[in-house]
Amino acid sequence: KRDQWIVGIETSCDETAVAIIKNGREIAANVVASQIESHKRFGGVVPEIASRHHVEQITIVIEEALTQAKLSFAELDAIAVTEGPGLVGALLIGVNAAKALAFAHNKPLVPVHHIAGHIYANRLITELKFPLIALVVSGGHTELIYMKEHGHFEVIGETRDDAAGEAYDKVARTLNMPYPGGPHIDRLAQEGSPTIDLPRAWLEEGSYDFSFSGLKSAVINTVHNAEQRGELIAPEDLAASFQASVIEVLVRKTERAVAEYGVNQVLVAGGVAANKGLRAALKKAFADNDKVELVIPPLSLCTDNAAMIAAAGSVMFEKGIRAGLSLNANPGLDI
Ligand code: KG4
Ligand code: ZN
Repeated sequence: KRDQWIVGIETSCDETAVAIIKNGREIAANVVASQIESHKRFGGVVPEIASRHHVEQITIVIEEALTQAKLSFAELDAIAVTEGPGLVGALLIGVNAAKALAFAHNKPLVPVHHIAGHIYANRLITELKFPLIALVVSGGHTELIYMKEHGHFEVIGETRDDAAGEAYDKVARTLNMPYPGGPHIDRLAQEGSPTIDLPRAWLEEGSYDFSFSGLKSAVINTVHNAEQRGELIAPEDLAASFQASVIEVLVRKTERAVAEYGVNQVLVAGGVAANKGLRAALKKAFADNDKVELVIPPLSLCTDNAAMIAAAGSVMFEKGIRAGLSLNANPGLDI
């Protein structure tokens, strides 16, 4: 059987990314052009700036991926692209590049949901074993997803307000740290102890939903109250306390979902999956459970990349999922 080659294109937020995957699981090229430096001074992603960067970078990044993989466009089987969710102006650059290439080279176009991509990053590590639970924790999403087979995504819980990464970024801003704040809080938390009492949002009994805005406000209030009283709070202890609250809720709800759904695997996905504390807590939680396999991608595959889009695209391609040249960006796409 001949090899299958899929190119993935991802421009939903602030990374212009193109990757080429062989047979659904092997990375032949993985190029990510980050714009973080341009957004830092604004304390978050500025949509208009993101779009302009994508326009400048996209063809360069595509060329670079083909060079890395030593392939020409003619050798590719399909073009997978993130159609949503994300910033509409940013998504449009990737979608239009993919459409132009599909038209020019007469290749099938495969639309991919960004979160499906994050989940399928795990398939670049190991084969998926269904049924499984995926914990998706990123800047825009916090979800527990049940999958009984390829391409089937059942959201069993989601955040009712802020995403986990969003809470990290907002708390980081309160502590005067640069954007994106997640990695900074993570580093700081390793140096402190969780000595400050902060809330845990368990919500109604049995709920798999999340809520992080109350926690975020509690951190901000703690800082302001201390300032008013002229007291000093050790930022490392505050970071450790915040992180402990986020992790405890994420891990406990994941454990409960794993038990209730009787799954074979737990996948972790999204930028917050790069968090050292979360990775350690999940490993500890599932260490003695020989019925489920815990899979956590390496850091570079947790944050936004196109290898994950090509990996999901490969499965969707096999399933016969195709988009026409009328494909549009869908900023609020449901999984
Ligand atoms: O998946 P991602 O790259 O982009 C989205 O699709 O949102 O996730 C970005 C988010 C940001 O909020 C960032 O602060 C967070 O992931 N993040 C982390 C860590 N590394 C990235 N959060 C906590 N700890 C980390 N080590
Ligand atoms: Zn993402």
